Amino acid sequence: MNVEYGPLTGADAARCAELEAQLFDGDDPWPERAFLAELAAKHNYYVAARVDDKVVGYAGIARLGRFKPYEYEIHTVGVDPAWQGQGIGRGMLSRLLDYAGDGTVFLEVRTDNAAAIALYESEGFVRVGIRKRYYRVSGADAYTMKRERR
Ligand SMILES: CC(C)(COP(=O)(O)OP(=O)(O)OC[C@H]1O[C@@H](n2cnc3c(N)ncnc32)[C@H](O)[C@@H]1OP(=O)(O)O)[C@@H](O)C(=O)NCCC(=O)NCCS
Repeated sequence: MNVEYGPLTGADAARCAELEAQLFDGDDPWPERAFLAELAAKHNYYVAARVDDKVVGYAGIARLGRFKPYEYEIHTVGVDPAWQGQGIGRGMLSRLLDYAGDGTVFLEVRTDNAAAIALYESEGFVRVGIRKRYYRVSGADAYTMKRERR
């Protein structure tokens, strides 16, 4: 398997929306225009994982605030179901964390998403709170997780 990591571009937005619909069905999956808006935002950083030039994963992080020390917020991480469990999620997350450097990083994750929670905990995130009915459509709760400055 030859996975290549690189920038996600506007040309990938439709493919990302297709994956979103599979990965977050029933939880307000982002449409193509949401990806285009994310990619246009100046302090966002998005990475793609590609196999044979096809996007099999995408992940993005936002830098918050105008002055150092910055905080960061992971906005999304998704891997094509056919490619899950092969290290791609971790590969993309580590690139987002490289971008954040020694900044504090936050994210929200569904409380029943054991796979994602295990990934985040293994990269140093801890649960710092619970957000009731954070996911608008399903009404599911989220944990807020935080990785402290390093
Ligand atoms: C969560 C997700 C991004 C993980 O990506 P992935 O490429 O499948 O994960 P990786 O192969 O890199 O695995 C990294 C770690 O995640 C955890 N993990 C992955 N799949 C898991 C599973 N089925 N059960 C439990 N833990 C799991 C493990 O800790 C794993 O580390 P290990 O292989 O050393 O045990 C992917 O499953 C996904 O896209 N899920 C649907 C969308 C989603 O939930 N995104 C996160 C929203 S916050």
